[in-house]
Amino acid sequence: MEMNSKLSSRLLAIIKYVDPSDIVIDVGSDHGQLAIELARSNAAQRVLASENKRGPFKTLAAAVKHSQLTNLNVMLTDGLNNIPADINTVIIAGMGGVTINEIITRKTAPITQIKKLILLPHGGAPLLRKTASELGFCLIAEEVIKDDNHFYELLVFVPGSITYTSDELLFGPINLLKQSPNFRLMWEKVYEENEYILAKPLNPKRRKEIEALQERIKTL
Ligand SMILES: C[S@@+](CC[C@H](N)C(=O)[O-])C[C@H]1O[C@@H](n2cnc3c(N)ncnc32)[C@H](O)[C@@H]1O
Repeated sequence: MEMNSKLSSRLLAIIKYVDPSDIVIDVGSDHGQLAIELARSNAAQRVLASENKRGPFKTLAAAVKHSQLTNLNVMLTDGLNNIPADINTVIIAGMGGVTINEIITRKTAPITQIKKLILLPHGGAPLLRKTASELGFCLIAEEVIKDDNHFYELLVFVPGSITYTSDELLFGPINLLKQSPNFRLMWEKVYEENEYILAKPLNPKRRKEIEALQERIKTL
C-alpha cells in the first residue's frame, strides 16, 4: 500500500512494525496523522486514536470524522485506562520517556492483553527498556531515526522474558548488534555535547556521572 509522504520519517518508521491483523491504539494521537494513515492504508485491522485532553480530542475527532474511515475510532481517555479488550497493539509516540513509563506501569494498564508495544519517546529509552522487560516484554526491533535534526529511538516489544545487561539497557541490545549509522551518529553527538558540558564548572557528582557515561560511549 502506498504510504503518505506527508508523514514525518519518525511516524513513517512506526508503520512497518504494524501488521494487518493488529488492533491498534495510538495513545496521544494529537493531529491523528499516524492513526489515519494506519487505517487508510489498512496497515492495521482497526485503529483507535486517543487523547486525554478535551481540546486536542475535539481536533482529533474532527480529523477522524473528516477521514470517513470506518476502521478508525476515537477515544477520550488517559493513557491505557478503559481501552477496549480487543486492542492488542499499543503505540505511544512523541511523549517523554517518563510520561510513557507512567502510562505503561499504571496498575490499571491492561498489560496482559498487549501483544506488541511500539514506543517512540522523546528521550528516556533506557528507562523504557528496563520497565518493559520488567513487565514481561522483550525487544524485537530497535531503530535510531533522524528527523528534523533530532535523533529518536524506536522500540518494539513483544511478550517475552529477558534480563538485559546495563549496556543493553543504555544502548539497546539490537542497536548494539546492528551498529547503524544513525545509532553511531546519535552517540557521537551525545559524546560531543558531554565534552562541552565537562569543559565548564560542574558539581562533582554530575561531573563523575558524565565522565562515567563518556567511558561507556567510548566502548562503542
Ligand atoms: C507531542 S504530541 C505527539 C503526537 C503524536 N503521537 C506524534 O508522535 O506526533 C503528544 C500528545 O500526547 C497527548 N498525551 C499526553 N499525555 C497523554 C496521556 N496520558 N494519555 C493520552 N494522551 C496523552 C498530548 O495531549 C499530545 O496531544
